[in-house]
This record gives sequence, C-alpha cells and structure tokens, in this order.
Amino acid sequence: MHRRQVKNIKVIAILSFLILVWISSIPAAYANCPQARKTITAPAKFLKLKNPLPLNSKNLRSGKKLFNGQARPIACATCHGIKGNGKEDPDFESTPSARNFTCTKTMEALPDGQLFWIIKNGSKNTSMFAFSDLSDNQVWQLVHYIRQFSK
Ligand code: HEC
Repeated sequence: MHRRQVKNIKVIAILSFLILVWISSIPAAYANCPQARKTITAPAKFLKLKNPLPLNSKNLRSGKKLFNGQARPIACATCHGIKGNGKEDPDFESTPSARNFTCTKTMEALPDGQLFWIIKNGSKNTSMFAFSDLSDNQVWQLVHYIRQFSK
C-alpha cells in the first residue's frame, strides 16, 4: 500500500471514531429520565405536606379532567402530554422541557408538597406558570393524577 493510502485510512478511521462518539452522546442530551431538574425547592412547611385527599377514582377522574382540558388558561397536557411524558412541550427550545411524570426516578424524589407548590406558584423563568385559580382541592387531585403516570 502507498503511504498516501495508509494516511487516508487513518484519517477515515479517526473521523469515523469521532462521529461515533458524537452520535452516542445524542441520547444523553435528549433523555428525559432522569431529567435534569433545576426547579426551585418549595418552602419547608410545604415539603412536609402529604396529599390530604384519598386516592380514589373520583379524585383521579377530576384530576384527569383538569389535566387534559379544564385547567385554565392552558391545560397541563398541552405541555406535559396526555401520557404525562413531557414530550408534547411546545416550548422545548426556550425553557427547560416540561416535567416527565412517567419517570419514576424523578418523581419518587419529589414530595407531594413540592408538586402542589409548583402547580400553585409556577417555576420561575420556565413556561410552568402559576395556576393560581385552582382551589387547593383541585391541585391535590392533580397531584394524585400525575403520580399515576409513574406507577
Ligand atoms: C406552558 C407549558 C406548561 C403547562 C400548561 C403546564 N406545565 Fe407544568 N411544567 C412545565 C415546565 C416547562 C416544567 C419544568 C419546570 C422546571 O424545570 O422548573 C413544568 C414542571 C411541572 C412540575 C414539576 C415540579 C417540580 O418540582 O419538579 C409539576 C408538578 C407540573 N409542572 C405540574 C403541572 C400541572 C398540574 C399543570 C396543569 C395544571 C401544568 N404543569 C401545566 C410546563 C407546563
């Protein structure tokens, strides 16, 4: 083989290797379980709260209705997805992506009171705004409903 051919083969080998490294890093950047999370932590008194509503079909049904359509001005499913996996988020480019409620690793670490507090107050500098019109009961129904996605 000519020197030049050997050199070409080396260049191709190095390039292929670099491309492989690049391709294999793509899934990590887009993976949403566990999800990179910089959300502010709720005040301590909220973190201690447990969902006061019983986990029954009535509360789950109400939570589902709010999630999929009734919550105003925009229903939760618009960003979090009907399946709760955060993949419908239209605002993916400009803010962190919507929480993936199907990810057990992420959700297990979040107390009920944290979920409650973010729904009521929103997450600053993200598209997750405050749903201040919802009653406490409605928010707790939503907390029951979104937990179902990771069960
Ligand atoms: C306009 C898009 C949008 C809508 C509508 C929306 N969310 Fe979110 N939500 C987000 C984004 C983006 C995040 C991630 C925020 C962050 O990373 O801090 C998020 C995060 C969350 C979290 C995670 C809190 C935490 O501590 O990690 C909960 C819970 C949540 N949303 C519940 C809801 C519920 C319930 C509704 C409907 C009442 C709703 N969201 C509607 C975009 C949305």
